[in-house]
Amino acid sequence: MTEALLQKAAHILQVNDLGKYTVPTHGLYPFQWNWDSCLTALGQSHLNEDRAWTEIETLFEHQWDDGMVPHIVFHKEDDGYFPGPGVWGTNRPIPTSGITQPAVAGFAIKSLYDRSQNKTDARRRAFALLPKVFKWHEWFYANRDPKHSGLVAIIHPWESGRDNSVDWDDAFLRVPTDGVAPFVRRDTQHADPAHRPTQEQYERYIWLVQTFRNLNWDNSKLHDASPFQIVDPGFNGILLRSVSEVAALAADLGLRDIAEASASQLDRGIAALDSLWNEKRGQYTCYDRVAGCLIDSPSIGGLLAAFAPIPKSRAETIAATLDTQSQNCTYLVASHDPRDVHFDAKRYWRGPVWLIVNYMIANGLHAAGQSAMATRIDKDCLTLIENSGFAEYYDPHTGEPCGGGQFTWTAAMVIEIIKNAKVAA
Ligand code: GLC
Repeated sequence: MTEALLQKAAHILQVNDLGKYTVPTHGLYPFQWNWDSCLTALGQSHLNEDRAWTEIETLFEHQWDDGMVPHIVFHKEDDGYFPGPGVWGTNRPIPTSGITQPAVAGFAIKSLYDRSQNKTDARRRAFALLPKVFKWHEWFYANRDPKHSGLVAIIHPWESGRDNSVDWDDAFLRVPTDGVAPFVRRDTQHADPAHRPTQEQYERYIWLVQTFRNLNWDNSKLHDASPFQIVDPGFNGILLRSVSEVAALAADLGLRDIAEASASQLDRGIAALDSLWNEKRGQYTCYDRVAGCLIDSPSIGGLLAAFAPIPKSRAETIAATLDTQSQNCTYLVASHDPRDVHFDAKRYWRGPVWLIVNYMIANGLHAAGQSAMATRIDKDCLTLIENSGFAEYYDPHTGEPCGGGQFTWTAAMVIEIIKNAKVAA
């Protein structure tokens, strides 16, 4: 069974491999996505180390001069996706979007390095990539934390990777829709519209893009200009985990300045993250920087923070919260608490299970000594795949596959989970 799953997963990676980067799935997402690529490299590393490094190197070839690493690189023209390069208008030789995505690259690079069989090559490649990743982290703290709180904000829901989470609903009402040029969505032509964000949400997404474009994508202006500034514990948790891996790897490679600066980013960030702890919910929750208030929404964002080196007592409570959740759904981890009135089992990030997030939560819980819950999550992932194939996401009650099929990062996570379990066994 395991061998058959591995083979199917390897086949999906191959089908979606365009040589130097991998598309998330043909049709729905025909370009290179930032965190998809970094997580995909983890799966690829078990099959072909060289190819795994290339995936991340290609992404960083498109890093902006200010340090930002864009969320999409439009390597080739394809009008099957909206919004395409013309809407972003970032004016780059190879077009990219103008916003970023969760910074998981530092974690991925450290993992590739640690597991590499060819250490000389891995050392050379990590040495070249590390300053770029560090520059991206510095960009975050300089541009998305102007008041030096230790935590960064996202300024567009797509940056979080959890596009239409319930977490954004109230803050998103501040984003107008007037002046949005008429457009035709493409996502609903590839996937069931009932599983996708609503039309109104789409108009607000595009309003933000148009507003940032009118400011010439000048990152020194965008944060303050955005009516949407959210401090997401999951986003910060991923960044902090990467910062901690960059600190460790830089020390190992003799890059002392990077190691020291990263260690202090980490200390400040972990201390600040605690301000997002929500005792009543037994997890972290978001902060709305424009309104100046916490957002009491029990989403996966606050569980995903367990990926960071948070205090052990916090990880223990998160494991207990997940245990409670498991009594209210069949498969962990729902992207929104199934007991909450806003939960929607099939709509994208408002309820469904996503394997990549499961993987990161389990990884963090394992490191924090919560191995029973970590193993339970891994098991649910494999059951979902066996029953429902390599989908984009799944209904946490029925396991029904939703969104796109033959999904790259889902396949990569399956390889990662199976191979890591073998190493641990
Ligand atoms: C969707 C997801 C995002 C992902 C992208 C490509 O937009 O919400 O997290 O990166 O698809 O798979």
